[in-house]
Amino acid sequence: MPRKSVHKAPFISFEGGEGAGKTTQAQLLKQRIETHQIPVLLVREPGTTPLGEQVRNIIKTSDNVPAADALLFMAARAQLMNDIIVPNIQTGTTVICDRFADSTIAYQGYGGNLNLDRLRHANELATDEIKPDLTVLLDVPPETGLHRRDADDESTGETQRRFEELPLRFHRNVRRGYIEMARREPARWVRIDASKEPREVADDVWRHVAEFFNL
Ligand code: TMP
Repeated sequence: MPRKSVHKAPFISFEGGEGAGKTTQAQLLKQRIETHQIPVLLVREPGTTPLGEQVRNIIKTSDNVPAADALLFMAARAQLMNDIIVPNIQTGTTVICDRFADSTIAYQGYGGNLNLDRLRHANELATDEIKPDLTVLLDVPPETGLHRRDADDESTGETQRRFEELPLRFHRNVRRGYIEMARREPARWVRIDASKEPREVADDVWRHVAEFFNL
């Protein structure tokens, strides 16, 4: 499939299972990029647009079948892509996305057993075939990630949990999916050991980003 290029600025996504630290690392990367006086925007999936935030609420609170979840994520993605990601990368603002299309392949495909090729096609529709330039996989064993999530939720009072409650088998399949995707497309993916301390992980992320974009 030919890869479209509308990028004037890089498009970076963060991926990983529950409790991998994506949100923290995406924020730390944004701060680090800003110190180089490079315009940068952080968005999240599902979310950021009004539709995306509504989808986030639905998927966290109602028990949908995997195909319904996949289509909801796709709808949020199409809107985010059109309204925010493309206009920014076209006009020179780096975009960091906390989860993107690969999350649906990992969670609804490898985790939820939906057909991977069908999901890839739906992703092409949602993204107009635009892929991140760099995808950072924050890799942790699910046992570690889920344990971290429990501790975080306790301290923040977060009560909306859904995918976190699924059996360990689901989370192992999600991780296997991410590792397979990273192996298949090594030019786009970088896999980082996210079981280390957040500062060490941030340094690893930065090393790869700086090298990738010649900063
Ligand atoms: P998070 O961004 O806080 O991790 O919450 C999003 C949840 O939605 C998380 O459990 C992963 C899940 N998810 C999917 O299952 N498929 C997707 O395509 C996306 C974007 C998220």
